[in-house]
Amino acid sequence: MPDVVYKDPQRPVEERVEDLLSRMTLEEKVGQMCQLDGRQEPERQLREKQAGSFLHVMGQITQRLQHLAEGSRLGIPLLFGIDAIHGHAFWPTATVFPTQLGLSCSWNPDLVEEVGRITAKEASYTGVRWTFWPMLGTARDLRWGRIDETFGEDPYLIGVLGSALVQGYQGDDLADPHTIMACAKHYAGYSGTQGGRDASEADLTKRHMLSLFLPPFRDAVAAGCATVMTAYQSIDGVPCTANRWLLWEVLKEEWGFDGFVVTDWNNVGRMHTEQKVCATMEDAVRRAAEAGNDMIMTTPEFFESAVKLVQSGKLDVAHVDEAVRRILRLKFKLGLFDRNRYADLEGGADVIGCTEHRQAALKAAYQSMVLLKNQDNLLPLGDDVRRIAVIGPNADDVEAQLGDWVSWSGQLRKSDVADRSHESVVTVLDGIRRRAGDRCRVATVKGCDVRDPGTAGIAEAAELARAADVAVVVVGDGLALNGERHDRANLDLSGGQRQLLQAVRATGTPTVVVLINGKPLSIPWAARHAHAILEAWNPGLEGGTAIAGILFGDRNPSGKLTISFPHHVGQQPVTYNQVPGWHADHYVDMPAEPLFAFGYGLSYTRFAYAHLRLDERELAAGETLRVQVDVKNNGEREGIEVVQLYVNDVYSSVTTPVKELKAFQRVDLKPGEVKTVRLEVPYERLALVNQDLEAVVEPGEFEVMVGSSSRDQDLLKDTFVVH
Ligand code: NOJ
Repeated sequence: MPDVVYKDPQRPVEERVEDLLSRMTLEEKVGQMCQLDGRQEPERQLREKQAGSFLHVMGQITQRLQHLAEGSRLGIPLLFGIDAIHGHAFWPTATVFPTQLGLSCSWNPDLVEEVGRITAKEASYTGVRWTFWPMLGTARDLRWGRIDETFGEDPYLIGVLGSALVQGYQGDDLADPHTIMACAKHYAGYSGTQGGRDASEADLTKRHMLSLFLPPFRDAVAAGCATVMTAYQSIDGVPCTANRWLLWEVLKEEWGFDGFVVTDWNNVGRMHTEQKVCATMEDAVRRAAEAGNDMIMTTPEFFESAVKLVQSGKLDVAHVDEAVRRILRLKFKLGLFDRNRYADLEGGADVIGCTEHRQAALKAAYQSMVLLKNQDNLLPLGDDVRRIAVIGPNADDVEAQLGDWVSWSGQLRKSDVADRSHESVVTVLDGIRRRAGDRCRVATVKGCDVRDPGTAGIAEAAELARAADVAVVVVGDGLALNGERHDRANLDLSGGQRQLLQAVRATGTPTVVVLINGKPLSIPWAARHAHAILEAWNPGLEGGTAIAGILFGDRNPSGKLTISFPHHVGQQPVTYNQVPGWHADHYVDMPAEPLFAFGYGLSYTRFAYAHLRLDERELAAGETLRVQVDVKNNGEREGIEVVQLYVNDVYSSVTTPVKELKAFQRVDLKPGEVKTVRLEVPYERLALVNQDLEAVVEPGEFEVMVGSSSRDQDLLKDTFVVH
């Protein structure tokens, strides 16, 4: 048994942490707080700053660096972090799932957990034990470039799915070498910036934060999320990284978060160089340390400044000790000191991207797709279809199909990672060709570009459509129009896509639009004129297989929107959970309803709701609202329905949304089958945040609404009273 306490795996983690802390020099402690870019001479950085963590490296280099760390004075292991998001997708052979927005449309926490578990497994073999995910921003302005990374617009659903992802990544015990730590980001209000401008200012009151933006983080913390990342932007003039209320009072004290907080990329430096709230780098470092940040991502100057500040008495070393304690605690829990230090690249060879994981990616793709329109039941395609024209810029585009945070996305330079081969990805064209087999002829032409407005290829595309029994037009967006630093002002179909669609539709050939895109687009023309629309988001490696499977009817689509589509960018906000009181209920030049509403999605079968009943009509503190409804499959196919329950607090001391999702359930129904679905809402879930910033359930009447989407016409309604 080792005689040094911190080296002894039998000792409790807290004892090991305190023992190690007591042996560390100031420089070693501050080094642990530094996370540096592993692509920039990491050996030198390790030597000079004794960094405790690197990001954006994986594989062999992690082994080399761990080896150096092991040989250092105290042998403290390194922690490697990466954005393993919808899969460990920077690794060229790893499984890539649909993006988070797509996954959310499954409304399936079990699926999301499985995605997390597989991602963790694949990442852990490459030496990475920490992902910067899930993103828990509540989607608001659709112009924001990072909408594709969210779980949509509802805080309750985000909390449920985010917690499932945390569970998937972390499992039950971080000591299991195939788990990774999750990181709830970006804390907080990052999705609420003005005009959807990435990392600018968010004008959010504390009440607004507590009701709309913080609940998903609170849920993820309750689910045991090990780390939290501070957001880039400022709120009411205060950068999140300097916001002691957010980091200490709410997160660490009120919620009892015992993991560590990491900043986003150079948040500390930005307070000096970009946000200009700190006149010197040293001041930025002091503010960040005092506000409750524990690990500092890629602000190399933090090291020298923090050491100097402590030595000159300007920063209390207690802040450093507290941060290091939190970081070491997790390094111990991960087993990095004991047996899990090194990547197991050989072991990973058969696991990463294996058939079983690809099957899971296919399942996820199926469940994430939302059928938005299906005029005259054009879909699924019948046996009479013999000639298919597959048209459009995203029909055979690997990048658009996999979405952001994959090898080539903005965060990694192409030279940093090997490219993903086209062969490993089933595009829409591949999927349709494979599925069609000899049964029908598949012809294809791109027709136009998602960026370039040129229309030269459109005539050829129309020609092809004219000669076909059905035209599948695959449009949407691409990485140039999505992602960090890629906010857009216009949500219409870009480049030549609108003209392409119109030309194809003008041929009279039945037209199916498949959308491959990172966010809701304003597509009123397509909504009116296309015969069918399938929203596929960025569906991942097996996306083409799933799209073809749905088009040909092998699978019945079951996804429902977790985010509303506007008719026009200026119609925003179109989120379903708005407060009442607008003098008009619509802009004079826009319809009142969104183009497609939250919760909406079609199936190849039809579901009918009846007999909404409440077990009790009066609810007291501590009780649970129990609701039952009968759901019947009135069609000829088996299908999955997502039953949704919304609540409205009829009179409240502050304005509350006209509807708020409070429960949901996926149900599988055979043709003709009726199931009684039971939904429960615990009393606390009815709380609002009052003027004094307290979460309270106010007595009075509540309306409960149950049905297939957030639209009034899809909901059965009743009322109950809270005492
Ligand atoms: C910046 C992004 O905002 C964040 O989401 C990401 O995790 C880090 N960079 C690391 O890549």
